[in-house]
Amino acid sequence: MNKNTLSRGKFISFEGGEGAGKSTQVNLLRDHLSGMGIDVVLTREPGGAPGAEEIRQLLVTGEPDKWVPMTEILLFYAARVDHLERTVLPALAQGKWVISDRYADSTFAYQGAGQGVDRAVVQQIHQLATNNFWPDLTLILDTDPAVGLSRATAREAALSEEQREDRYEKMQGESHARLRQAFLDIADKNPERCHVITGGGTIGDVATQISQQVSAIFGLGL
Ligand code: TMP
Repeated sequence: MNKNTLSRGKFISFEGGEGAGKSTQVNLLRDHLSGMGIDVVLTREPGGAPGAEEIRQLLVTGEPDKWVPMTEILLFYAARVDHLERTVLPALAQGKWVISDRYADSTFAYQGAGQGVDRAVVQQIHQLATNNFWPDLTLILDTDPAVGLSRATAREAALSEEQREDRYEKMQGESHARLRQAFLDIADKNPERCHVITGGGTIGDVATQISQQVSAIFGLGL
């Protein structure tokens, strides 16, 4: 192969309910891939670029009924396009791998299944805003909602009022089980892209499951 040919990097997203341990696992996968000599960019949604981080603050703070659902979706997509254009696509073009803590499946789960916006409407917006851009691989961390919620609540309680990003925790209440089911349905409908990781074991067990999946899917270490 011509040495100057730079192959596009891979885009991996992590999804799951509150307190599923995503941020820990995102970091562990980054360490694992970096250890194999892969250049990795870690990012998140909403956020992941300066403007998108500003939009994040509008979304994750304040009272649950602050936005009507359509405004909320459009804010997520405003942030997402900025994130894609400023962070994800340039990194992929440079051959880097991008790991994002959440991407568009969260909109289908939270705003679609959670807040009742028609899936077809979310899909139309996704098509228009991103030209139907999806990750190469999505890892869905599946955790018992009660465990996840108590972890997330404990994490938020340790923060000051201004630091708290708890709008969605306040909003979801009893619908955590519905959210979990929404992610499992997404995995069912997209078996090529999505893999469910069972979050019940230790952090190390879950990290091993993830690195094995990623190695198998992308043929690493073969
Ligand atoms: P985080 O807690 O994983 O950082 O995510 C912030 C919150 O935003 C989380 O409660 C899920 C929510 N969210 C949506 O409702 N829709 C979306 O499209 C995304 C990316 C996140």
